[in-house]
Amino acid sequence: MKKFIEIPVSMLGNAQEMIGKDMMLISVADGEKLNLMTASWGCMGVLWNKNVAVCFVRESRYTYELLKNQDRFTLAFFGGERRDVLSHCGRVSGRDNDKVEQLGLTSLEIDGVYAVSEAKTIIVCKKIYSDMIDPDGFVDKEIYEKAYGKGDLHRAYVCEIEKIYRRNEE
Ligand SMILES: Cc1cc2nc3c(=O)[nH]c(=O)nc-3n(C[C@H](O)[C@H](O)[C@H](O)COP(=O)(O)O)c2cc1C
Repeated sequence: MKKFIEIPVSMLGNAQEMIGKDMMLISVADGEKLNLMTASWGCMGVLWNKNVAVCFVRESRYTYELLKNQDRFTLAFFGGERRDVLSHCGRVSGRDNDKVEQLGLTSLEIDGVYAVSEAKTIIVCKKIYSDMIDPDGFVDKEIYEKAYGKGDLHRAYVCEIEKIYRRNEE
């Protein structure tokens, strides 16, 4: 834990850039291992008087299965670096791969959850609410067709941001 220091949410940065441009890894425990999944859709804000992160996981992902059994997990951010990691974790499934080992990464335990220790920023998340995207809810049918024309709906997870850690470069 020496490598990371806790920061307030005001120091987190711009969510559009962090998620949409730089991307994140949804990091969920697989037994005593860690599985990493690249995600570039999500948001951060305030809901139910909590700072929240919202992420979207399609039902075909191994991460989807893992999240059924985990109420807490972490999000990892690399600040635009480690494209190799983000590309691998967005291509390969943890069902038959140990991505942490393949990439030569290490995991650490923070606040009782696993996280990837090479990240620049780690957010510890606790699920508050989750539900499948409802096709009937779409006002813009074009977006629905583009995202779900072939099925494989997302489950949305609204999570409380419990803690934010930033790598201590000193
Ligand atoms: C740039 C990029 C962004 C992605 N964003 C998401 C996302 O937001 N939600 C999702 O379900 N899958 C997303 N994926 C796909 C998963 O990362 C990919 O299917 C991964 O292999 C699933 O890993 P898993 O089976 O170990 O969970 C993305 C992939 C890439 C390359």
